[in-house]
Amino acid sequence: MKGSHMALVLLERPAPHVALLRLNRTEARNALSPELRVELRDHFLTLSDDRDCRAIVITGNEKAFAAGADIKAMADISPAEIMAQDDETNWAAIRHCRKPIIAAVQGYALGGGCELAMCCDLIVAGESARFGQPEVKLGIMPGAGGTQRLVRAIGKHRAMRLLLTGAMMDADEAFSAGLITKVVPDEQVVSDAISIAAEIAEMPPLAVSEIKQVVLAGVDAPLDTAIMLERRAAYMLFGTEDKKEAMTAFIEKRTPNFSGR
Ligand code: CAA
Repeated sequence: MKGSHMALVLLERPAPHVALLRLNRTEARNALSPELRVELRDHFLTLSDDRDCRAIVITGNEKAFAAGADIKAMADISPAEIMAQDDETNWAAIRHCRKPIIAAVQGYALGGGCELAMCCDLIVAGESARFGQPEVKLGIMPGAGGTQRLVRAIGKHRAMRLLLTGAMMDADEAFSAGLITKVVPDEQVVSDAISIAAEIAEMPPLAVSEIKQVVLAGVDAPLDTAIMLERRAAYMLFGTEDKKEAMTAFIEKRTPNFSGR
């Protein structure tokens, strides 16, 4: 696919205010090549600012969500070349995206693919989903948050097994470990993720955005600081038109109509 005009990430609009990003390197199990990561970054930067987009679903295909960084593109690479690729900028675009992101995972989510899923706010997985950080088998280690996000999600002792052996977790194990939101039959993964995204998209956007930001910023802050952050954001939302509309609609027993202001 390299050098051709084929998009490596496809953008669809499957429901009002919902964007769906599909990784499109089927032949390489959606390995995250440098070119694909740049396309992904550009989509997230655009969607983060797109007022019409209120929730994002990201998915792969039935065989793989993403099998990690592209090993063929990394086999002969030097640290200086990796630094020059500035992959951090690509990841930062996803981390700082203001819209909620739902990963819809079928098949392999390995290495950078698992890190990509963990960057998302919710993870819907099919029964075929397999999560892992197999970098150790390649003589390297996760470089995009894998060691940190996995330990926060599932605890040190389970994370260490995956990180130190490269073993994979299946969907049920990932669910009981707290890594993912839910497990559904494979053929329902994308539609289920879209319907959660559509539900979020019906909520007042400023409240959604503040909740996402406070959860993410607060989780690594001291509790008192995080609670102060929460309280300030909560008070601030009392100033929005959508808060007035939501509470008035409740009292008038009608459906609210949100403006995003
Ligand atoms: N990079 C490049 N190509 C990959 C790839 C990857 N990560 N994963 C799969 N492919 C390619 C294979 O080379 C193969 O290509 P060819 O047809 O040209 O031979 C094609 O995709 C299909 O792969 P398989 O035949 O291996 O498919 P499978 O269904 O038997 O196995 C798999 C699937 C278990 C995902 C296996 O491909 C695999 O183990 N892939 C590597 C997973 C991995 O180690 N990921 C971590 C990468 S490192 C990383 O991500 C670093 C970081 O965070 C910074």
